[in-house]
Amino acid sequence: MFNVENIRKDFPILSRKVNGKPLVYFDNAATSQTPQQVIDVIVDYYSNYNANIHRGVHSLSQEATDKYEQARHKIQKHFNAKFAHEIIFTSGTTHSINLVANGFSSILKKGDEIIVSALEHHSNIVPWQMLCERTGAILKVIPMNLDGELIISDYDQLLSNKTKLVFVNHVSNALGTVNPIEYIIKKAHQVGAAVLIDGAQSCPHIKPDVQALDVDFYVASAHKMCGPTGVGMLYGKESWLKKLPPYQGGGEMIAEVTFEKTTYADLPHKFEAGTPNICGGIAFGAAIDYMNSIGFDNISSYEHELLEYATKKLLEIEGLKIYGISKHKTSVISFNLEGIHPYDVGTILDKMGIAVRTGHHCAQPIMDFYKIPGTVRASFSFYNTLEEIDVLANAVKKAQLMLS
Ligand code: ALA
Repeated sequence: MFNVENIRKDFPILSRKVNGKPLVYFDNAATSQTPQQVIDVIVDYYSNYNANIHRGVHSLSQEATDKYEQARHKIQKHFNAKFAHEIIFTSGTTHSINLVANGFSSILKKGDEIIVSALEHHSNIVPWQMLCERTGAILKVIPMNLDGELIISDYDQLLSNKTKLVFVNHVSNALGTVNPIEYIIKKAHQVGAAVLIDGAQSCPHIKPDVQALDVDFYVASAHKMCGPTGVGMLYGKESWLKKLPPYQGGGEMIAEVTFEKTTYADLPHKFEAGTPNICGGIAFGAAIDYMNSIGFDNISSYEHELLEYATKKLLEIEGLKIYGISKHKTSVISFNLEGIHPYDVGTILDKMGIAVRTGHHCAQPIMDFYKIPGTVRASFSFYNTLEEIDVLANAVKKAQLMLS
């Protein structure tokens, strides 16, 4: 049974104070907190079997290699990839996107078109702009409406046989909008384009099935889903990963090296040059186990309750405007108080122990669309409570009084 008070006991950080007040952690879209079960795995790694992987004949190296590869299998199973070698460990979503963007440099030709959406994080805009500069490809943008949703009929118009790639986030980090990726993937495939879905903000809330989605690439970060920072994954269909050239050269990604010619290792090692974040990968697997032990159905229904309650409470505050009011949203609320800069609100909330993110959230085009400098973003996780939302609503009212 889902019991938030029991769940909170798994997270040591949630019982600390900030500025003399109990911590209310509402910056989960930036990074999630880490349960004891994952912290224990990290401590166990460094206490008991820290060693380099895929290299040594000695026992510690074997043990670390086994655990690392087990984690890859856990990730494969979680995302329902067909093969474990379709899961590439990376340092996070940004690394995963850059790996794919770099690979397409040798595939795209001048005049080819690639489509992104108006709701993207900078990490799903800039690598594609760089790719366009390298190849002469043209970037097209699916526009958004005032509710913070993509205008899908415009997407249909943008697609043509010139479209080679489509990149869209599953969930917007700034607004929480859940994009209709099933439709986006299906339509892109009809014109022969490949699709990369940025799952950084969906994976904490939703369990994606990459085979059912028939997506070509899906990327995510461990630290948004109760794991550590500095590790993430790229799922790619085997056929695409075989086609793309390696991203970085180095140890472990080769089959044979001579000064005349080097041949590359098979998947997944072709994309995993250098010593990886071994402990991070193992802890990523543990984080996935932890989240599955809570259950994604439980997580999404409880977070929906938090979202509905927080939306109602915040809208009771006169002069408060919420940006992003799609019917399909994760538990993210971006808002502003009329006439008050979001940074000032965030600073006062921090004094009251409440952690939110303020600013453009690495999504400046969205802020430009609304003609605002940024927002205050409260993002909720399954370990937050309705009482914490009351604390937030009262604190926002106080901030409004102080700053008006
Ligand atoms: N992409 C993260 C966020 O939205 C850092 O806050």
